[in-house]
Amino acid sequence: MTEKSGSGKLWGGRFSDDLADLGLQFSESTAADRPMINEDIWGSQAHCIMLAACGIINEADLRTILGGLAQLRQQFADGQFELDPQLEDVHMNIESRLREIIDPEIAGRLHTARSRNDQVVTDARMHLRTRLLELRSVLADLQQTLLDLGAEHLDTVMPGYTHTQHAQPISVAFWLSGHVSALQRDQQRIAQSYERVNRCPLGACALAGTSFPIDRQITARLLGFEGVMEHALDAVGSRDFVAEVLADLAIIASNLSKLAEELVLFSTHEFGMIEIDDAYTTGSSIMPQKKNPGMAELTRAKTGLAYGRLMQALTMIKALPSGYNRDLQEDKPPLWESLDSVQSCVQIMTAMVSTMKLRPDRMAELVAGNYAAATELANFLVRERNLPFRDCHRIVGHIVRTLIDEQRLLTDYSRVRELLAETGQQVSEQQLAEILDAQAILRRQVSQGSTGVEATAAIIEKLRQAIEESRREIAAAHQVLIQAREQTDQIIKHVLKGGGLAEIEL
Ligand code: ARG
Repeated sequence: MTEKSGSGKLWGGRFSDDLADLGLQFSESTAADRPMINEDIWGSQAHCIMLAACGIINEADLRTILGGLAQLRQQFADGQFELDPQLEDVHMNIESRLREIIDPEIAGRLHTARSRNDQVVTDARMHLRTRLLELRSVLADLQQTLLDLGAEHLDTVMPGYTHTQHAQPISVAFWLSGHVSALQRDQQRIAQSYERVNRCPLGACALAGTSFPIDRQITARLLGFEGVMEHALDAVGSRDFVAEVLADLAIIASNLSKLAEELVLFSTHEFGMIEIDDAYTTGSSIMPQKKNPGMAELTRAKTGLAYGRLMQALTMIKALPSGYNRDLQEDKPPLWESLDSVQSCVQIMTAMVSTMKLRPDRMAELVAGNYAAATELANFLVRERNLPFRDCHRIVGHIVRTLIDEQRLLTDYSRVRELLAETGQQVSEQQLAEILDAQAILRRQVSQGSTGVEATAAIIEKLRQAIEESRREIAAAHQVLIQAREQTDQIIKHVLKGGGLAEIEL
């Protein structure tokens, strides 16, 4: 039998001419496939074990193929195997190398009852699992870093903003834990996506399944999947898992950009509430005094990449006919790029937050300097004088207006006392000091989820438990993957030592 036909490609039987160089360069996918080499080998190992278990190849051939794949895996680990663009993709590279290592007649049996269409999407899902667990882990690190810093500042007061205008005093713990709370939903989103990613398409073959009596449960189990993607046509033709993960990443990027923006803003001379460590700032080539928050700015900017890759993938999958289309090859570059980018943003934010310095004095100065306690004065009148809130709002609004005209602050208690007296409300200066003191304000916030010291401590405690829960989930999912790999390895070892499949449970 001829090994290669007219075109020189493994699929070249019906071709009389080879692929043009330009065509090959345009269509080869080795760069995007490179991260999936180990997964592709593992997939082949599981597949041929299953073929033998189902009696589709004999055990002597299985032994030969597994021996070759083990060598190939070792070669890759030793840096002796790299993808050759001439061979189009990871699957063809591995099959070709296998044909060099073992008898090509036997190597040729490996591709029974599978297709590159189900192979590639199996590889992608497998690699993505590892990347998602990694991402969850670095996200948990960022969450923990924010909480650790926050927990030290339950009663450190800073201005809370709405419309970027001073609103009410909040604690630093409240500010930082707010970001952790948002990131917790990112954790959940990735965990939920993981469940949909973690289904095995292998055995869908090209689109229609196969006439061979394969057992898809065996391959799914050996590859550590939670189950199979039942519908063959859907399994090879759908990439909503890619779009979904890219959407998760885009939302994470948006959350990071908010934190990054605050680091940029709060480290300016005008705000002066934080100082980013020298290690994560850059200087100017012309202005000697400059210290620029470059990493925070870049994190803010890289949101564009995450949004762009999502849009790229969504556009790529739109209106594709059922079944595999070559368009789908374009799913991996945006996926890997967005994962790399967002993960690096998470990590740089962790580094910045864990090294930045807070400036509580400046925060207190800002809180006192711009009427942030006004709402509390109105609340006092409601509480103590039983007035309708709307009336109190107007009274305090007038007082603030007058103080602004007179260039005074709410901390000018004697003047505030006079102005209140004009409205018929007698409040002593000492009482005013208690009402308007920013720290006392924090202590008075009692509602669930508020900036009050106790409420925020409770939030932090819940978030800490959520982070621990995430870490347990990550470790458990990771363990499943490790065990599946080990089980595959044990079977390979057993077969290579001359054992038969009948003696083991699959
Ligand atoms: N490189 C391809 C991809 O990433 C692999 C599947 C190719 N299938 C095919 N029939 N050409 O989608």
